[in-house]
Amino acid sequence: MRGVNHQIPALSPTPVGGRLLGCRVTTNRCEVTATELDEAGCGVGASDGKTVHVADLLPGERAEVAIDHTSPHRPEAWARIVRRLGAPSTERVAPACPGFGRCGGCVWQHLAYPAQLAKKRERVVQALADLPAVRTGDVTVAEVRPSPQLFGYRNKGKYVAGIVARQLVLGAYAPRSHTVIDTLGCKVVAPIIDEVASWVRGAAETAQLGVYNEATRRGELRYVVVREANGDVMVALVIAPGTPADKLERVASAMSHHPAVRGLVAIENDRKDGSIIPSGATQKVLFGHGHLVEDLGGVSIVVGAAEFLQVNRAQAAAMYARIAELALDGRTQGRAVDLFAGLGGIGLHLARAGLDVVTVEIDRDAVAQLTQAAERAGLRLHALAGDAGDLSHDVREQIGTVDIAVVNPPRKGLTEGARDLLVELRAPTIVYVSCGPESLGRDLAALAAHGYIADTIEPFDLMPGTAQVETIVRLRRAA
Ligand SMILES: C[S@@+](CC[C@H](N)C(=O)[O-])C[C@H]1O[C@@H](n2cnc3c(N)ncnc32)[C@H](O)[C@@H]1O
Repeated sequence: MRGVNHQIPALSPTPVGGRLLGCRVTTNRCEVTATELDEAGCGVGASDGKTVHVADLLPGERAEVAIDHTSPHRPEAWARIVRRLGAPSTERVAPACPGFGRCGGCVWQHLAYPAQLAKKRERVVQALADLPAVRTGDVTVAEVRPSPQLFGYRNKGKYVAGIVARQLVLGAYAPRSHTVIDTLGCKVVAPIIDEVASWVRGAAETAQLGVYNEATRRGELRYVVVREANGDVMVALVIAPGTPADKLERVASAMSHHPAVRGLVAIENDRKDGSIIPSGATQKVLFGHGHLVEDLGGVSIVVGAAEFLQVNRAQAAAMYARIAELALDGRTQGRAVDLFAGLGGIGLHLARAGLDVVTVEIDRDAVAQLTQAAERAGLRLHALAGDAGDLSHDVREQIGTVDIAVVNPPRKGLTEGARDLLVELRAPTIVYVSCGPESLGRDLAALAAHGYIADTIEPFDLMPGTAQVETIVRLRRAA
């Protein structure tokens, strides 16, 4: 998942001989009543002066817990339930996915959807509480716009290959470990993605494709990425260098019989940094096409296995339309810049509304695809490649003077260089689209110091079942 690496959660400390690296292991027991829910889906309560995170405890629920790990740095601990005490929360629902509780993906699935939305809004409210316009009450955080689909919304599935009970599985690392758990049967990806992933698993097993071992750095299949657009599917096998071609051909032959699969590619990756498809990696087409065609705001654009695209297509479309509405505010001409543009979901909407648009994106493949899509559609959109935080003089000149600046950075927010660029542009209107409420709060505070005042704050839910929330903020420059 953007943002949430839905199926392959980030790795945390690895258990080693009963200890977790960086954590003291204890077996203390205590009673905890959860008052909050954290991003990992743990109920958070207090005991003996410590904040305790308890797996599968919802706010309002109480349990006797065993503390497994205590932070050596903070009064904070992580625990599991030994015995539930009292009634379950009225907001508890049965999670849809078979892997819930083991998979670190949609860790809020056991919370009723209206309560999820309320918690997401709370997260934005807390992160933005210190902004001047929020403090004075001039602007309030709107209700979170719900996703039209709660399940089957993801247009991309990312799987790590592993062995369970001597069988090849495609799944995710269990939280805080390198143990792979099977996530086939996931209800969050589009059903066709789960079906195709299941075919890949069978084909890879029949072809005797060996599973890559991160510790020994031996083996063949590392990850599988399955992407869907308009019912068409493409598959990327991420493999170790030296994987025998005949095995890959056998997988390709099996996958070519699936009626929805339009192409299969192999991408070599021998990196240790956990990236699934390293930037700049080359792909070999094993059969069919190495891409799909996606629709972004009525414009057809070619998408490969690696380019960033919002995973919840329907909700992303609603969000782009709202961003354009807020940015344009009735305007039908002028100049706009879309920083961190990806494949141009936002910039294309603005160009379709009649604006001259310059986009900036670091991924050169995405820039090339956006350039071609805009040309085919006859739009006045100029896609530039570069680091938004460190643009050359030439690129800055090409951006020129703008009426509207839209930024949609990764979760960590703007670098100092990107903030400086925004301030230098002096756009009367900035629309900041963020998947990281906390970095958003930091960046908006910095922009407020340069006279940018928020007049609209609208969160959108693009990832039901998770703590993730996307927020659109419109800022006006004080005269
Ligand atoms: C959150 S995505 C937004 C993409 C696009 N606005 C959309 O809705 O699909 C962030 C994008 O920023 C790009 N990116 C990351 N770091 C960047 C940088 N330093 N300069 C420019 N683009 C960057 C990523 O490749 C990614 O496409």
